[in-house]
Amino acid sequence: MSLGSILVIDDEPLMRLSMVDALQAIGYEVRDASTGNEGLDKVRKGRFDVVITDLRLPGADGLEIVQTCKKHHPSTEVILITAHGSVDTAVQAMKHGAYDYITKPFSMEELLLIVERVSKVVVLQKENRELREELEQKFSFGGIIGKNRRMQEVLEKVKIVSSTDATVLVYGESGTGKELIANAIHRNSPRSQHALIKVSCAALPETLLEAELFGHEKGAFTGALKQRRGRFELAHQGTLFLDEIGEISPLVQIKLLRVLQERQFERVGGNETIEVDVRVVCATQKNLKREVEQGRFREDLYYRLNVVPVQIPPMRERKEDVFVIAEHLLQRLAMRNQQEPKQFSRQAKEVLMRYSFPGNVRELENTVERAVALAQNADEVQAWDLCGQSHCSYRSGGEPQAGCGFCEELQPGKKSQRGNGETLAVARERFERVHIIDILNQTGWSKTMAAKVLGLSRKSLWEKCKRYDISSVDEPEEGQTL
Ligand SMILES: Nc1ncnc2c1ncn2[C@@H]1O[C@H](COP(=O)(O)OP(=O)(O)OP(=O)(O)O)[C@@H](O)[C@H]1O
Ligand SMILES: [Mg+2]
Repeated sequence: MSLGSILVIDDEPLMRLSMVDALQAIGYEVRDASTGNEGLDKVRKGRFDVVITDLRLPGADGLEIVQTCKKHHPSTEVILITAHGSVDTAVQAMKHGAYDYITKPFSMEELLLIVERVSKVVVLQKENRELREELEQKFSFGGIIGKNRRMQEVLEKVKIVSSTDATVLVYGESGTGKELIANAIHRNSPRSQHALIKVSCAALPETLLEAELFGHEKGAFTGALKQRRGRFELAHQGTLFLDEIGEISPLVQIKLLRVLQERQFERVGGNETIEVDVRVVCATQKNLKREVEQGRFREDLYYRLNVVPVQIPPMRERKEDVFVIAEHLLQRLAMRNQQEPKQFSRQAKEVLMRYSFPGNVRELENTVERAVALAQNADEVQAWDLCGQSHCSYRSGGEPQAGCGFCEELQPGKKSQRGNGETLAVARERFERVHIIDILNQTGWSKTMAAKVLGLSRKSLWEKCKRYDISSVDEPEEGQTL
């Protein structure tokens, strides 16, 4: 098998042929060119992994070769051969994207070493690209990765809804990717050339939130020294992302309802009616339906917002995604550090699969990032790198560290969650919960099928899901799914 394809451009026949021979001898597929113009022609037509070119050539020079290469095939890497004294030009060429340079006179061993190093980078980049593309095609949309059946449905829904103007309400625990979904919807919508404006509704007290959303006139309240446009105005023709929508007060709820119905509002302290064209995407960690039932959220507003509900399952209910996302992060970190991606050790994989990730994808991201930093130059990320404590019990085989979620949750038979002092009833519940989630995963979250497999009525399955806080109980409203 060829190690890769190389083009050698040099006008000195002896030099050129020795390079060609040496490279062919160790398994590269080599072509050559004896003038700059012939080189340019071959660069344009062919696709080489590496181009080795003399800087000074008859016709086009090495600098032009670099520029053409980078323009036509950005993934091809170029090595320049320079004469003593032309190092400045070589440095300039590197600024244009050449990978490295070698100064004459050099031995074939020196050249082969550089070529080997560059080829490794090229292969790595190729693998990364292929992996990324595969991931993009199969399990991802707009940076949202999801192999799990329910996540695939989420991605499909997000894809479809992006091209419309429908209001989307994203449900999910903290760190599940609600904002990521809002970003994807906007970026893939016809409004992508306009602004995506984000407001965290929980961060501000009522009056400030009102002014933030709708703007205010000069003198509307103490401190309102000049007129200010609100987020709805700023998002005109674009998208407004209202995060933590479950937190807004009754007064803001009324104003919001009116904008959604009539696309009009007045600034705080103003009379002028302002019309806007805004697409709204909201997110909440709360069960908004329950908020309505308990009188904390207006029902009419709920229906205006819940046009397309998107429910993101928590990490612990889509174990298959843990690994896909973790692998993706390893690749991304390797690219950033220009290193070969690390692997997870077998025990580290086990830990990743068993841990519940209460902080969801955000916690997974932080965990992997920290682990890669701790693993330093090692090829493998170990279980104790994931935990991050210097005296991790995985390393020592001892007791779990106090305060370390990973060790406490995962060490078999440890006090915190299982074993000592746990009644049979508690152990049974713990098992039931995990088992129900497993079966739901296997049946693609069809509750009818899962109930059949589990030997339960649909109603008792629903009750158990509710009791164990398994998120699928929040079925979208009838007739409201897209
Ligand atoms: N499916 C996913 N694929 C890849 N990355 C993800 C996915 N979901 C979330 N992330 C990443 O996890 C992090 C948290 O996501 P995000 O901020 O969107 O969560 P959130 O639900 O808005 O959290 P919070 O409720 O705490 O605001 C981000 O860095 C995001 O890129
Ligand atoms: Mg968020």
